[in-house]
Amino acid sequence: MQANSPILLFDSGIGGLTVLSELRKLLPDAPVIYAADQAGLPYGEKSEAEIAARVSGLLGRMAERWQPRLICIACNTASTIALGMVRDVLEIPIVGTVPAIKPAAGMTKSGVIGLLGTKATIRQAYVDNLQQEFAGGMKLLRHGAHGLVDLAEAKMRGEDVSIDAVAEETKGLLLQPHGDEIDTVVLACTHFPLLEEELGKAIGRDVNFVHGAAGIARRVAFLTDGQVFERSGPDRAVTTGDPGDFKQLSRAFAAHGIEQLEGF
Ligand code: DGL
Repeated sequence: MQANSPILLFDSGIGGLTVLSELRKLLPDAPVIYAADQAGLPYGEKSEAEIAARVSGLLGRMAERWQPRLICIACNTASTIALGMVRDVLEIPIVGTVPAIKPAAGMTKSGVIGLLGTKATIRQAYVDNLQQEFAGGMKLLRHGAHGLVDLAEAKMRGEDVSIDAVAEETKGLLLQPHGDEIDTVVLACTHFPLLEEELGKAIGRDVNFVHGAAGIARRVAFLTDGQVFERSGPDRAVTTGDPGDFKQLSRAFAAHGIEQLEGF
């Protein structure tokens, strides 16, 4: 294992920054390549087959090019659909991101948990299984809030995001039967914690927000424990989309220690 072998952090867009923030706290010296599949964004509107093919194909090519020591799929949609398949084809450790239902079940007092994810994530059997295993006997109200993905991307480009627009996206959760009893909301898309402040205002009452970023970072640190890290150059982010548009995110990436943005 080379000391400059990177950790590859993958998402459809900038949602993975929520995981990168936590990872930097635990592994400040780790070389990171951030890969955003913006040509495929949003994943939440795609079919399972399309997502599985895209994610495993891209990660295969990226692993070959950069020989990462570990891949972190910092995307709930990709993980709940394609994690098993990617693990089957790549011989490096793969850490996924799955909805934080377990910690939410430990926090709720009302027994009613809200789950905001993409449309593709909320329909996965993976989520049914987590619910059965950790939140049996509780209510888990799910809502596919795909518009929040675009709003989070816009915020990271420095655009204003209105609370009304965020509220419009959460309505479908709060207006479900028992929606008024929700005291804990799982942010089951890595883009959504980027809007936590706006979500708090949009919901307008005290709820706990739970997401998996810190737990994922701990898992990455555990799996790379004892390994030597050395950066041979600045960290970079790559996009499958338009490299010109990608530059609009320069400031958000710079805030996470990534100065070099390029096309894949
Ligand atoms: N960030 C991704 C997730 O965690 C999804 C965004 C998208 O729809 O592409 O689910």
